[in-house]
Amino acid sequence: PIYDLLIINGIVVTDKEIGEFDVAVKGEQILAVEPRGSFSTREAVKVIDAQGGYVMPGGVDAHVHLQEPPMFGKGSTADNYETGSRSAIAGGTTTIITFAPQRKHEPSLLTILAATHAKAANNCFTDYSFHLLVSNPTPTALAEFATLRREGISSLKIYMTYEALQLHDAQILDVLLEARKNGITTMVHAENGHVIEWMTRKLEEEEKFAPKWHGTSHPPMAEFEATYRAICLSEFIDTPILIVHVSSPVAVEHIRAAQKKGLPIFAETCPQYVFLTAADLDKPGFEGAKCVCAPPPREGVADHEGIWEGLKDGTFTVFSSDHCPFKYEDREMGKMSSITPEYPEGRFRYIPNGIAGIETRLPLAMSAERLELRRLVQVTSTDAAKLYGLYPRKGALLPGSDADVTVWYPPTGKDGSLAEFELKNEMLHHNVDYTPFEGKKLKQWPRWTILRGQVVWDREKGGLLGEKGYGKFIKRDRSCLTGSRGLGEWKIPE
Ligand code: URP
Ligand code: ZN
Ligand code: ZN
Repeated sequence: PIYDLLIINGIVVTDKEIGEFDVAVKGEQILAVEPRGSFSTREAVKVIDAQGGYVMPGGVDAHVHLQEPPMFGKGSTADNYETGSRSAIAGGTTTIITFAPQRKHEPSLLTILAATHAKAANNCFTDYSFHLLVSNPTPTALAEFATLRREGISSLKIYMTYEALQLHDAQILDVLLEARKNGITTMVHAENGHVIEWMTRKLEEEEKFAPKWHGTSHPPMAEFEATYRAICLSEFIDTPILIVHVSSPVAVEHIRAAQKKGLPIFAETCPQYVFLTAADLDKPGFEGAKCVCAPPPREGVADHEGIWEGLKDGTFTVFSSDHCPFKYEDREMGKMSSITPEYPEGRFRYIPNGIAGIETRLPLAMSAERLELRRLVQVTSTDAAKLYGLYPRKGALLPGSDADVTVWYPPTGKDGSLAEFELKNEMLHHNVDYTPFEGKKLKQWPRWTILRGQVVWDREKGGLLGEKGYGKFIKRDRSCLTGSRGLGEWKIPE
């Protein structure tokens, strides 16, 4: 046989094209994509008939927290590399980038990288890479950036909030300058931690402890001030940054204005900022804790529309999950680690920030039908691959690209399409006892997920077929999106 796998009768959607094409796979790679009927099925070991369903490059989720120590409140991440990547595959994502977190007392980033490799190796269903999370940019840590790049790590994340992680502006400048020298993209969690701490104190003085006050303690101002500050610091050093998990339309405005000036400012948003609202934090009892993340879900429709607009017009480069799972019923600590004998009513300050969403990211985006499909592929796969130095190996269906493919059911109303259904946590493959998106109406789900030529998910026949350990570490190059505008070394402005 000439082909190991043929995917026929689908509507292929890439970042640039949409049309009736068949996909031929040889070994682990795409061999060719040609008009429907071009390949002989007799020459194929395996044939998938997509029956008119969409065929896309596998999802790239570039913002995933797995197996991390407590950093965002009380409680450790519920998913390890096995359960988190398993959940990704079932939701059409074939590559994930997780965090290798430095805690302030740990001097060496390379030691942390090695420890994170040890967690992931032989445990992943998806291909994977890591962003270094830098919380203490000592001279030792900064000097390791060059080695990180040689090890295939071309991005890192810094925080402007959380006591355990927050950098002050001089430290941010240190990181940005060293990142510039080494062709590294810096992801920034842009919220002003001092504002959040001050608001939290004010709320607690009035005994406002319930989950809904988490939203009040993270005002949009704390986000857009930090976003603007991060943009200024990036412009000063002239080096690319990506503002992660943007929730507020005012922050979007700052980013759009910076991009119009030609600055290399990139932005990410997540499903929680178009599918959840502040009302989700104000559910009966302690249920609101299930939607606590930072920044928090905003007020409502106007905020969602501002985010959709940014996704449509290119202000956002990526739509990631920010999968950061915690169990609601934590056996040792009580609900969300927050209801303890000391605080029997629970206390929002201690609710770990973060929600699960690695499996639901693509189905929610597809079912919402808000993005033109090529745009959806850009923000969920291709542009994430470009931004983080994985393209064209990932995020593309080009000859020689890894054969990572997500095949969807035929669109609503066509033969073989899915009837609308309600999302339930029991459908998911993560290690979490709830989904913040419970009850959302869905019209789509990946029918097949293919990773490097292997069918790892077949929803009609057995579901999960992949094996843990098949997923491998992918060394990344520098971003192929815009870098620094200046040439040569950064100099003190004259
Ligand atoms: O609430 C969030 N976003 N938790 C995950 C940690 C982070 O800052 O990305
Ligand atoms: Zn963050
Ligand atoms: Zn995150």
